[in-house]
Amino acid sequence: MEKYGDVLFALDRAEEIRLRLLAEVFDPLCTRTLEMLGVAPDARCLEVGAGSGSVAQWLCGQAADGEVVATDLDLRLLESVPEPRLRRLVHDVTTDPFPDDSFDVIHARLVLSRLPQRDEVMRRMLRWLRPGGFVLIESFCWFPVDSSPHPTYCKVMQRWSKLICGTLGTDTWWSRTQPGSFLDYGYRDVGAHTVTQNLRGGTRLADFWRLTVDMSREQLLAGGYVTPYELDEFYALLCDDTFWDLAPALVQSWGYK
Ligand SMILES: C[S@@+](CC[C@H](N)C(=O)[O-])C[C@H]1O[C@@H](n2cnc3c(N)ncnc32)[C@H](O)[C@@H]1O
Repeated sequence: MEKYGDVLFALDRAEEIRLRLLAEVFDPLCTRTLEMLGVAPDARCLEVGAGSGSVAQWLCGQAADGEVVATDLDLRLLESVPEPRLRRLVHDVTTDPFPDDSFDVIHARLVLSRLPQRDEVMRRMLRWLRPGGFVLIESFCWFPVDSSPHPTYCKVMQRWSKLICGTLGTDTWWSRTQPGSFLDYGYRDVGAHTVTQNLRGGTRLADFWRLTVDMSREQLLAGGYVTPYELDEFYALLCDDTFWDLAPALVQSWGYK
């Protein structure tokens, strides 16, 4: 398996733009759920695979008397977060440790489903939580794509998913049973919420998915996953404001220690 960021999702200018777009589109869904779960002013928080750092920055505002640690394999984007209280750490969630009972809140968006070691990572995060603390994990679920009435949208998205699953060990089906698996990992009071967003061409959400697929353009064409014609048609659909469909859904699952 190729490691996340080595080739696919390598941190270049295009990936930076994509991650900032991701934050713009998905942060409101994430912060609403974190607010519902409750981040205390003195909470110790861990943002895993923090990307552009927008959620970590938001957590700093909530945990004003606590501590926020943001980790990633590469800290270049996190360095520009204007938050002196944010502790930034190069940390591979699959191998690097934290002491047991370190955090009240652990959040990871679009990280765990991408990693083949997700089961072991979920168990490690349980050890890192303090008793009473919670984890919130967000992952995409592909059922809206699989049932799409638009053949080109459906095919390109499915083939892109097949590429990343085969290359990185991503599991785009994990999200579906994610809350149930939290019980197996040892979490309690598990809950979940799934958001399905309407996808209209020309919107920020459509831009996010267009850029996401475009980042793997070379691999999609070289591997024969799609033709150049299908890709161009896909890009045109996602720029067309008369195109309406559903984007991959976002599953938010939480569990307590
Ligand atoms: C799709 S991005 C999501 C970024 C951020 N969580 C967000 O939603 O805005 C996935 C992030 O996880 C990071 N990542 C991937 N594998 C990781 C690992 N093993 N340990 C820590 N971070 C990892 C990547 O570098 C990238 O920043």
